[in-house]
Amino acid sequence: MTISNVSSLDDDSRIIVALDFPEAKIAEEFVSKLDPKLCKLKVGKELFTRAGPSFVEVLVSKGFDVFLDLKFHDIPNTVASACSVAADLGVWMMNVHASGGRGMMEAAREALDKKGQDGRPLLIAVTILTSIDQSDLSEIGFSGTPEDNVRRLGLLAKSAGLDGVVCSAMETEMLRKECGREFVLVTPGIRLAGSDKGDQKRVMTPVNAIRAGSHYLVIGRPVTQAGDPRKILININNELNRLI
Ligand code: C5P
Repeated sequence: MTISNVSSLDDDSRIIVALDFPEAKIAEEFVSKLDPKLCKLKVGKELFTRAGPSFVEVLVSKGFDVFLDLKFHDIPNTVASACSVAADLGVWMMNVHASGGRGMMEAAREALDKKGQDGRPLLIAVTILTSIDQSDLSEIGFSGTPEDNVRRLGLLAKSAGLDGVVCSAMETEMLRKECGREFVLVTPGIRLAGSDKGDQKRVMTPVNAIRAGSHYLVIGRPVTQAGDPRKILININNELNRLI
């Protein structure tokens, strides 16, 4: 896979809209306003727990690339089996916690490889959650700064054969240097210029995040709570296309 930070991905939008809705019906109504050329979709623990795998299959059948954000973390056999079943849903990307260790990540990767290279979903890792700060890290027994740990776990994920990591836009430059241009960086905490930050602390605009090295941007409320989400997506895609 070749992805550069400011090159065209043809019709492949860099935007992943986070479907953080409590009910399938609300999510479905929202998705009916979108189309797969405008964005990919992320299904996380809330919607998945409510609506289940059949809802993911509905999104896939509508032609959307779906990122299944369940952040698996368990013994290698359990995570590998979960990844294998998730791949059967036809998702485009899924994730695991890098802190599950090399054996867990390699087992997950091998389970997906058995699905065949062509249709294999991307497998990325969560390094250190952006909600974790220095004192949380020390309390759970991790030494070093959050950035040290992101670097270490990013390199571990890469050497275990994963395709990339979820990271803050503040970490993309360092991860690009350490893990190379092909390592996929997926970045939440995106806010449009002048929009409300909400509970996100360290935010970046779409253009600045792509310039800083993100491949894909996870955007939730700035799109899901917009009066005209389609218009917002068209505007962001146009802004990003102008970077080429
Ligand atoms: O609404 P907002 O744009 O803040 O949504 C961001 C999405 O990205 C949410 O689904 C959130 O769970 C997810 N996320 C995040 N920070 C991380 C990892 C995931 O905000 N470090």
